[in-house]
Amino acid sequence: MPTLTINGQPRQTDAEPAMPLLWLLRDELGLTGTKFGCGIGACGACTVDVDGVAMRACITPWSAVADRPIRTIEGAADAAVAAVQAAWVAGQVPQCGYCQSGMILASAALLRRNPAPSDAEIDAAITNLCRCGTYGRVRPALHAAAKALGGAAAKALDVAAAKALGGAAAKATGGAA
Ligand code: FES
Ligand code: FES
Repeated sequence: MPTLTINGQPRQTDAEPAMPLLWLLRDELGLTGTKFGCGIGACGACTVDVDGVAMRACITPWSAVADRPIRTIEGAADAAVAAVQAAWVAGQVPQCGYCQSGMILASAALLRRNPAPSDAEIDAAITNLCRCGTYGRVRPALHAAAKALGGAAAKALDVAAAKALGGAAAKATGGAA
C-alpha cells in the first residue's frame, strides 16, 4: 500500500490514484483543517505545503505528490509558518477563518522563496480568495512576518559573525602577545 509523509507522519492509503489530495486529506485521513472552496483551483482554500511549495489540493491527485513531504495546517510549524501565524494573531488577520489555512500556508511558502516581498509581489503570489476581505490585513502582517524572520536570521548571522570576529580577535591578540 502506498505511503505518504503528511505532517512528518507516514500515512498509508489505498485510495484511487486520481483522487484529489484534498479528498484524501479530509475524507480518508480526517485532516479537515484544509478547506474546500471551489474545487477548481481558483480560490486557494485547499492550499497545502508540498515540500515547501504552496499547492492547491483540490486539483492535485494525491499520487502526483506521494513521494514529497506534505504539510497541512495541522502540522508542526516551521519558522516561516510560525512567523506568519504570530503576525496573523498580532494583526488580527482572520475573520471567519475559512480561507486562513490556505492563506497562512501560501504566505509561508512565499516567505521561503522571497524573504522580503513587496506589496505587488504579495498580491501576485497570494491569489487566495477571502470572502471577508482580509487582504488589507494580510499585506502588513506578511511584512511583519518577513521582518520577524529577517530579524531572527540577522541575529543568527550576528552571532556567527561575532564568533568569527572573536576567533580572529583572539588570534590577533595571541599573535600580538
Ligand atoms: S478548493 Fe481548491 S482552489 Fe478552491
Ligand atoms: S477570513 Fe473569512 S473567508 Fe477569509
